[in-house]
Amino acid sequence: MTTEGVLRTFVEYFEERGHRRITGSTLLPEPGDPVLFTTSGMHPLTPYLEGRRPHPLGSRLVNVQRCLRTTDLGEVGDLTHLTVFEMLGTWSLGDYELPQSLEWGYELFTEGFGIDPGRLHATVFGGDERSGPDTGSLETWQRLGVPVELTVDDNWWSGGPTGPCGPDSEMFLWTGDTPPQSTPTGDERWVEVWNHVMMGHRNGPDGSLVPLPRRNVDTGLGLERLATLLQGRTSVFDCDVFSPWRHHLPGLWGSLDETSTRLVTDHLRSAVVVLGDGVRPSNTGRGYVLRRLVRRVLTTLWRDDPSRGLGDLPGELIEHTRDHFRQDIDPEVVRRLLVDEERRFRRLLEVGRTVLDRPRFRGPLTEEDLHYLHDTHGLPRDLVRNLRDEREIETGSGRQTR
Ligand code: ALA
Repeated sequence: MTTEGVLRTFVEYFEERGHRRITGSTLLPEPGDPVLFTTSGMHPLTPYLEGRRPHPLGSRLVNVQRCLRTTDLGEVGDLTHLTVFEMLGTWSLGDYELPQSLEWGYELFTEGFGIDPGRLHATVFGGDERSGPDTGSLETWQRLGVPVELTVDDNWWSGGPTGPCGPDSEMFLWTGDTPPQSTPTGDERWVEVWNHVMMGHRNGPDGSLVPLPRRNVDTGLGLERLATLLQGRTSVFDCDVFSPWRHHLPGLWGSLDETSTRLVTDHLRSAVVVLGDGVRPSNTGRGYVLRRLVRRVLTTLWRDDPSRGLGDLPGELIEHTRDHFRQDIDPEVVRRLLVDEERRFRRLLEVGRTVLDRPRFRGPLTEEDLHYLHDTHGLPRDLVRNLRDEREIETGSGRQTR
């Protein structure tokens, strides 16, 4: 089943059960939102989940929302993490409760997607000093014959320090070749695919739980991750949405190892989406996230060959990404912005190497030095650190930054 097929099956299933499809937003939250990028499907729905106003389309909703997570940047390059990904989501705004959502989740997985029920495992909130165990979810899974593991921290979801929160129940799929011997927390071949959250509270500023006017259900399922598993793959980069990248990248910049190929694919595709949503590189906020993505790509590409450049990126890859996310930016504009950013980075590196070669900066760097390098020469801390590491490797010395 293609990713498009997974999306269609999911949305139709919930439409048949009274859910209205809402249009997903861009990656940019509403003005005034303290969060830089939308990180989950529920984010744009926060006012409705908190009961501040009724949703114009009613109390049962379904959609696909693009999300960006920088918390996982260090993990990108492995088999499952993506910076920009799409999340399928369903919501009950004070309508049905978690057991109903889990029953539908089970039915859609086993009948809609044909997943063998023997490959399923669930986790459920076991209770703590603030909130009792989620017995409704536990009983539902027991009735459906799905094994359950009880946890505490892993099964409490929170949309931020002061956002809506509540116990959740996660559905896992077994990806091993031999039958599982352990539960989801004990074996990473159990891959988490669908999170169902019962949002009855929000976090108060003092850490207390403030009851919401209505109890809601919020679910989220990573589209690419599910498509990958349904396509019998283990790496998310082998699912169909990445086929054009798989096709073009090996011939483009010579031999990149697999981890670097995944990182370059993820970050470049993410950068294209962020540019398509109107962000431009800068030294603060969203623009800096974009800048870091592009610089991480360039650092990876230049490790073996500094002549590699983003001007070679095929227009087809930009177009494919733009069309997938239903954006309308001209691919040539994207390429120009990427090439400009590359030029700026090359210049900055040249300046950085020259300045850091001065006797003043050869020893350990003080806070004052770091401020000076940033304010006078535009050299951010992480770049200074990288250049120092590079220098250490070249000279075999062991200097440190503080
Ligand atoms: N909001 C929940 C999540 O992101 C569904 O996992």
